[in-house]
Amino acid sequence: MSLQIRDLYAGYGRLEVLHGVSVAVEPGAIAAVVGANGAGKTTLLRAVSGLLRAGAGTIRLGDRDVTSLGAESIAAAGLAHVPENRLVFPSLTVGDNLTLGAWTRRRDRTAMAQRRTQVVEYFPRLAERLGQPAGTLSGEQQMLAVGRGLMARPSVLILDEPSLGLAPRVIREIFATLARLRSDEGLAILLVEQNVRAAFKIADHAYVMDRGSVLMEGEPTALLDDERVQQAYLGGGYVRVSEEPANERPEAADAAKPESLPGPAR
Ligand SMILES: Nc1ncnc2c1ncn2[C@@H]1O[C@H](COP(=O)(O)OP(=O)(O)OP(=O)(O)O)[C@@H](O)[C@H]1O
Ligand SMILES: [Mg+2]
Repeated sequence: MSLQIRDLYAGYGRLEVLHGVSVAVEPGAIAAVVGANGAGKTTLLRAVSGLLRAGAGTIRLGDRDVTSLGAESIAAAGLAHVPENRLVFPSLTVGDNLTLGAWTRRRDRTAMAQRRTQVVEYFPRLAERLGQPAGTLSGEQQMLAVGRGLMARPSVLILDEPSLGLAPRVIREIFATLARLRSDEGLAILLVEQNVRAAFKIADHAYVMDRGSVLMEGEPTALLDDERVQQAYLGGGYVRVSEEPANERPEAADAAKPESLPGPAR
């Protein structure tokens, strides 16, 4: 199932954050959305998953218009949102956290158990830790968050900065799994990232957001060659994110804010 976002406006109260954003991803494809802090990436994902109401524009899952549906209905329609803060239940076991991800299918316990086996195959590190409280996980917490999203067998998966704070090895594993899900399950994946290099490596199409608008879009390799993208996102901080273990987003990322980018026409 495809995800089509057209000319989307959304914000918080009177603050308009998204000013007409159009982003699309087909089944069996990964679209990356990158952009500096505050560009509106999280807001975009929150609007798509129904946590935030769109002011205008349309959001379609396949041929269904879900723009005015709430989060539960959108999830039931086949969209899974892996939010930035991971939101695993720390005192519940890894296994129970996964099971909770399939609440929409809770009546069919056999199907749920089968799916859990499949999801754990995607993330073998979780297999050894099924009985362990989720709070004791480190890098695997993000795998658990993605795994929980997969439990409901979504057609569209949207992820908010899954690489944040993780060691490069863990990032590689997670991204390799996303690439596998794209082919094995034909998922449409919308990947919001600050780790531009890692995201562009697996993405089929990429969008650069700046101050609530899409500034550029195209093939990741073409965008990587673009001088503006290099200046704003591939200098200093962003390279370090993918090549060194880091606990948090490096401070240098602030210096890489796209002040030097030409702003969208206003
Ligand atoms: N709950 C909120 N209430 C009011 N304004 C908000 C809220 N959340 C975000 N904003 C504002 O919306 C704008 C976009 O924020 P958003 O979190 O979508 O950016 P982002 O691209 O995800 O940034 P980051 O890379 O830091 O995650 C920012 O100006 C932010 O201050
Ligand atoms: Mg964000």
